[in-house]
Amino acid sequence: MKNLKRQEIIIKTRGFEYKVLIEDHLTSESGKAIDLLFHSKKALLISDYNVHEFYGGKIRQPLASSKWKIKTELVKPGERSKSLSEAKRLYEACFEAGLDRNSPILALGGGVIGDLAGFVAATFMRGVPLIMIPTSLLAQVDSSVGGKVAVNHPFGKNMIGAIYPPRLVLIDPQVLKTLPEREYQAGLPEIIKYGIIENESFFSYLEKKAQRLLKPDSEFLSEAIGQSIRSKSRVVEKDEFESDYRRILNFGHTIGHALEAATFYRYYLHGEAVLVGMLLAVKMAEEMSYLNHREAERISRLLGHLKIRKAPAGLTADQVIDKLEHDKKRQCDDLIFILPDQIGSAVIVPVNDRDLIAHLVSSYLKQ
Ligand code: NAD
Ligand code: GLY
Repeated sequence: MKNLKRQEIIIKTRGFEYKVLIEDHLTSESGKAIDLLFHSKKALLISDYNVHEFYGGKIRQPLASSKWKIKTELVKPGERSKSLSEAKRLYEACFEAGLDRNSPILALGGGVIGDLAGFVAATFMRGVPLIMIPTSLLAQVDSSVGGKVAVNHPFGKNMIGAIYPPRLVLIDPQVLKTLPEREYQAGLPEIIKYGIIENESFFSYLEKKAQRLLKPDSEFLSEAIGQSIRSKSRVVEKDEFESDYRRILNFGHTIGHALEAATFYRYYLHGEAVLVGMLLAVKMAEEMSYLNHREAERISRLLGHLKIRKAPAGLTADQVIDKLEHDKKRQCDDLIFILPDQIGSAVIVPVNDRDLIAHLVSSYLKQ
């Protein structure tokens, strides 16, 4: 199998900098990178049952040969595991593993594991080192970098959390081969997002390679993941704590979150709802004259290569708008939208025009 060159990306945070390594078959090599960075020789590996079955042994074996003691704790796959009760169970595992302030927590899995294990790492003994080993496309291009970690609360998603950057991120694009197809596709909108909001030349690259989005090869995947992380890191380095500019990463998320919430987080995968939100935000940007017609068409055409999930029967515009009204990013009476103002750039716009929003949401629901 062709082994592509290793990419190394350095991300600067307020306190330190960390490395993101992207390389085919890195999973089996990851022990070396971890062993080089830490002397503790004790770690807690957190994963879910699906991912652990494929890759748990590959992470553990090389470390065990270098005399590491690894305790493994598994959670059920899925969003419901991102809870305070699971975090409590994992704190107990941290004690049982005998972690000290220099013992890393290894987060092996998708965004759920990264957020949950990251939350535990951020809070156990006021912070132990976190190593992200993301295995879903969404986690590889988005959630494993930037430091957002959280668990959910019955009153809202990601409501209890922190900004706690990892010490190392290890990305092996080959693990995506075992990712279910629908989960893979749900990661694609996040890749195109970076082209739209931050990097015009990456957008043009994706336009040229559009056919490879759904049938990727190693070279394309490695390039797309690397460019996505570079884009995200440029944004996060400017505004790590999301005082303003980082909000552009939420492009498509205003309506996306409302769709997820209105369907009780059971119908859409996150990326599927964000894709709809992105398409509607592009229409809004054109309607409000932030974006010209030609660029709006180019964006919609590229996004149109992805599979757009139809709305479930019975979902109404009022139900979606009700969730928008409760969005945590709302400011007074305005709803906050991220709108592209040209390809490769986005602006943060307070929008008051409920008729326009209702019209856009209805146009999607009728499809
Ligand atoms: P996920 O973690 O639930 O993973 C999706 C499914 O794929 C799971 O069933 C998992 O077991 C399985 N899986 C993952 N990798 C696999 C592999 N290589 N082979 C086989 N199966 C595999 O979902 P996700 O989409 O990765 O993440 C969603 C979560 O990420 C949400 O909780 C969301 O809030 C969070 N998120 C966080 C950030 C952030 O910046 N922290 C950003 C975006 C999303
Ligand atoms: N996923 C959005 C962010 O990290 O800010």
